[in-house]
Amino acid sequence: MSAFPSDIGADMAGDIPANLSANFSDNLGDKFFWATEATDRMNRMYRRQRHIYDGTRRYYLLGRDRLIADLKPEAGANVLEVGCGTGRNLVLAARRFPGACWFGIDVSTEMLTSAITAIARRDLTSRIKVTHGDATAFDPELLFGIPSFDHIMISYSLSMIPNWKAVLEAAISRLKPGGRLHIVDFGRQERLPGIARALLLRWLTLFDVTPRDDLERVLSTMAAASGAGVKFERPFRGYAQYAVLTLPSGPAKP
Ligand SMILES: C[S@@+](CC[C@H](N)C(=O)[O-])C[C@H]1O[C@@H](n2cnc3c(N)ncnc32)[C@H](O)[C@@H]1O
Repeated sequence: MSAFPSDIGADMAGDIPANLSANFSDNLGDKFFWATEATDRMNRMYRRQRHIYDGTRRYYLLGRDRLIADLKPEAGANVLEVGCGTGRNLVLAARRFPGACWFGIDVSTEMLTSAITAIARRDLTSRIKVTHGDATAFDPELLFGIPSFDHIMISYSLSMIPNWKAVLEAAISRLKPGGRLHIVDFGRQERLPGIARALLLRWLTLFDVTPRDDLERVLSTMAAASGAGVKFERPFRGYAQYAVLTLPSGPAKP
């Protein structure tokens, strides 16, 4: 008895003309980056966690509601969340700012399942679109038919992505002139008592979380290169870091 996948492969190979199959794979190779390692890793992390994620994270992913309140998108603005998780931020933001259009990418198909369910349950499918994508290499034109955004938000995702600097570069490159990048994440916790800080850092490693101590410096360097302005804060005694980068409205100065 032959294996099931080879049967399918044999049938498919017979159905697709050689020239078409060659074009198809060329196009995929050129345009797509398929983030299998990150997808596997995040799916392992969130397969069960996603069911209790929103209920538990409300107590320690601090600053997310402020980030949403500060977005203030104009009517018709396009807003992207990179690493949208369960869709919690997108749903709250879409309800708060009904005139804007909302988009999200996440590398975890488990988290996306929760996001899609949450969006449908709140009847927001016409205003929020989410899809699979890697924050370090995404093309929103391919994913959503939109080349750039008025606002991009990254909430507690940089601390989980090893190549977080590539995420910042990708996000800045996908902002419209005058667009804003909004970030909230774990901070250095430098103003917390020593024991609390040590316990918290150890606990975060269980979730594959590494606070990006360098965020202010890296973001400021990138902002300077693109003529952007940055506001940076360390709220909650340094528990969190909060940043807004604003691109100039015209073309960048040489
Ligand atoms: C701590 S959760 C934050 C979710 C949401 N932004 C929030 O504030 O509740 C981090 C999210 O980043 C996603 N993520 C991790 N690596 C990623 C990558 N390379 N590209 C896109 N998303 C990624 C995870 O799957 C997860 O949903």
